[in-house]
Amino acid sequence: MKPICTKTLTTRRLILRAPEVSDAPSLVAAGSLLMSENDARVRLSEMASEAAHPLGFHWVVALDGVAVSRIKGWEVSPFNGYVQLGYDIAPALRGKGLMTEAVGAVLRFLFDEAEANRVYCSVRAENIASYRVCEKNGMQLEGVMRQHYARQDGGYDDVRIYGILRDDMKED
Ligand SMILES: CC(C)(COP(=O)(O)OP(=O)(O)OC[C@H]1O[C@@H](n2cnc3c(N)ncnc32)[C@H](O)[C@@H]1OP(=O)(O)O)[C@@H](O)C(=O)NCCC(=O)NCCS
Repeated sequence: MKPICTKTLTTRRLILRAPEVSDAPSLVAAGSLLMSENDARVRLSEMASEAAHPLGFHWVVALDGVAVSRIKGWEVSPFNGYVQLGYDIAPALRGKGLMTEAVGAVLRFLFDEAEANRVYCSVRAENIASYRVCEKNGMQLEGVMRQHYARQDGGYDDVRIYGILRDDMKED
């Protein structure tokens, strides 16, 4: 992979850019960061530093100029060329295709500019909305890790792995 860091991306409705400490009030109000504004400032400061490092991938997603969502590329392996994605969006904005649009832009960036070979998501069982974001972006269900994530009630959830390869993007 190329040692590049988070870059601003634009889609039809969204701007994806590196996090800023000043995003704290919007992300807390939107329910994207479930913490106090002070804790959110600390977290955003860490995210901004990570986003500035080579192979640090953190985006805040803005709709109409307001930060409403986050996408993170983590567990980056430059040797193997893979990145895991995590994301969330404000509850009031779900179901409008926004995360599908944002993830599409991130995939294009990771394959075309960062030269990743593989991108994947780990999705907790029952998270149908997240399955759909993956599927609508051409990611394939590759397998299930049984009882991989603990639940608050003491039980465990299975986790689906969705992945996409650079070769898959070429076939589109
Ligand atoms: C997962 C999440 C990011 C999706 O964002 P979003 O902007 O609502 O996603 P989109 O609108 O692009 O697509 C959602 C799809 O799921 C579908 N969907 C949502 N809830 C559903 C349900 N209970 N049953 C069936 N389909 C469902 C929507 O209809 C849509 O599919 P469609 O376009 O085929 O109709 C959002 O729900 C979220 O932030 N959840 C909490 C955090 C999270 O789970 N993150 C992912 C961790 S892997």
